[in-house]
Amino acid sequence: MTSGKEKNFDPLAFKSEFPIFERTIRDKPLVYLDSAASAQKPRAVIDAVTQAMEHSFANVHRGLHTMANETTEAFEGARAEVARFLNAPSADNIVFTRGTTEAINLVASSFGAELEAGDEIILSQMEHHSNIVPWHFLRERQGVVLKWVPVTEDGRIDMDAYAEAFSDRTKLVTMTHMSNVTGTRTDGEKIVSMAHDKGVPVLLDGSQSAVHGHVDVQALDVDFFAITGHKIYGPTGIGALYAKSEQLNRIRPYQGGGEMIAEVFEDRVVYADAPAKFEAGTPPIIDAIGLGAALKWLDTQDRDGMEAHERALLDKTMTGLAEFEDLRVIGTAQNKASIITFVMGKAHAHDAAQLLDRYGVAVRAGHHCAQPLMRRFDASSSVRASYAAYNTMDDVETFLDALRSVRGILM
Ligand code: ALA
Repeated sequence: MTSGKEKNFDPLAFKSEFPIFERTIRDKPLVYLDSAASAQKPRAVIDAVTQAMEHSFANVHRGLHTMANETTEAFEGARAEVARFLNAPSADNIVFTRGTTEAINLVASSFGAELEAGDEIILSQMEHHSNIVPWHFLRERQGVVLKWVPVTEDGRIDMDAYAEAFSDRTKLVTMTHMSNVTGTRTDGEKIVSMAHDKGVPVLLDGSQSAVHGHVDVQALDVDFFAITGHKIYGPTGIGALYAKSEQLNRIRPYQGGGEMIAEVFEDRVVYADAPAKFEAGTPPIIDAIGLGAALKWLDTQDRDGMEAHERALLDKTMTGLAEFEDLRVIGTAQNKASIITFVMGKAHAHDAAQLLDRYGVAVRAGHHCAQPLMRRFDASSSVRASYAAYNTMDDVETFLDALRSVRGILM
């Protein structure tokens, strides 16, 4: 059996590539429903990272010796892998960052440096704090105005309100491509085309969308696209910013240090070309190699089959949850990925999560780093179950059974 590209997707074969599932939690099989927070790692990634440390490691770009060249090749190969994954025109459009958060902070800092008091940025109520707080910095420091697009009752961006949010002071639109709370896929192409009609560039936060479907930055025509490695089966501490060349060539560097310069004098500095211009200091070499391995491995998988399987997990869970009295799912839009957030009566989400752990079920509870969205849905705290393609229909049943027991204890 294989989970590979040529065959029908086999969740059990796919799951068997992840050594973590050999362990138990409190003597129960691990039912990991927290992949939206961070996905587990396949053997291919673990081996690539180990190989990078055991066999050939040195700093990149600086050396002339064999291992420096080998490591540089592996590191730049990972950049090419990210470019292929996102269908970027060139690896030069890919800047390695610590994750999505740093990618967005880079844009806020570098693109944001050009903004003046009264300039406007459009964002939605559905954003993760990583796509809110960096823009608040610009509000606090430079007097930039944040214009918020509301979210509909079923958890979509209100596109009529979006159309009305533009003014002649709008300088940027920054929105999620998939909510980490509701799993709603936003209409990236429409968000971008409506902004471009007004001459406004767009940043899309692809932290979740890159995991649950194909992303094509050229088809989206998006100006900035941020991803993080650890949600897409890669290591932590690595992510990437895709940006159009015109943006990368124009905006100022993010951090200063080694590697990002062409020449340094006492009275001036000449910066390197992008992407090096944005990568000061020794980069997360091993993590980047691990991310490259994750994307290469993913390319051998049946991604359409993975998506269909995740859809089936979602449907089965939504059907099961509908039987629970007093349970409210936040975000019920049709175009939703396998991320399900809910409030269960007056039961506290943290209590529910801790009790679920007794059954080996790992979920996230809290505000999910999206407080404006939680306020929109009048929920201070909620439980989130998020599936990846290694989850099985048995996992859904274990989760629903465990939730029934937890509900019995808490309500
Ligand atoms: N952004 C991650 C989540 O949604 C951490 O859980």
